[in-house]
Amino acid sequence: MLTRVGHVRRCVATLNPFLGILASRQKHALPDLPYDYGALEPHISAEIMQLHHSKHHAAYVNNLNITEEKYQEALAKGDVTGQVALQAALRFNGGGHINHTIFWTNLSPNGGGEPQGDLMEAIKRDFGSFQKLKEKMSAATVAVQGSGWGWLGFDKENGRLRIAACANQDPLQGTTGLIPLLGIDVWEHAYYLQYKNVRPDYVKAIWNIVNWENVGERFKAASK
Ligand SMILES: [Fe+2]
Repeated sequence: MLTRVGHVRRCVATLNPFLGILASRQKHALPDLPYDYGALEPHISAEIMQLHHSKHHAAYVNNLNITEEKYQEALAKGDVTGQVALQAALRFNGGGHINHTIFWTNLSPNGGGEPQGDLMEAIKRDFGSFQKLKEKMSAATVAVQGSGWGWLGFDKENGRLRIAACANQDPLQGTTGLIPLLGIDVWEHAYYLQYKNVRPDYVKAIWNIVNWENVGERFKAASK
């Protein structure tokens, strides 16, 4: 039933120029950063932030929109082979857009310190202490082979916090089912200009700018 409704919508959009315009407005857009490029210094340089946001994230958004257009064309033609062939691009660019959109809000020039309230209680329950969480998540994140992300996620099924590592731009929820709360980008574009090959120093610095208020809000929403 849902498929049929979706199909009808696509056909209408194809035939009606006005709806076509509406569809084009629904393209994904690069979100503004909630702070200036230099606001996270000295922990992350303005040069890194500018390139990371305006070039790398922008490329994921652009390529996601292109991939979705091609996917719509393949769907309209009933071209299943074409749809399958686009899965990798959708996963990579869709994941890149999702991950970075979360990442920017996970950080703040006024960040650092410790989480509060229910999130802190859950961290103590599931990891023993905040310090243990930092140690375990740092180790898992530093150990990512090649490019990827370290995550603190929420396992809705058993109501527990979990640490996970994802390769490339694999989105946490789409590939593991965990709801993302805090992500650490360990692609070299996230740190190499400042930290060179010393990924552990970059991960250590990230804790100084974690926006625990944002992570706590995500935890609250995920726990409902
Ligand atoms: Fe990145």
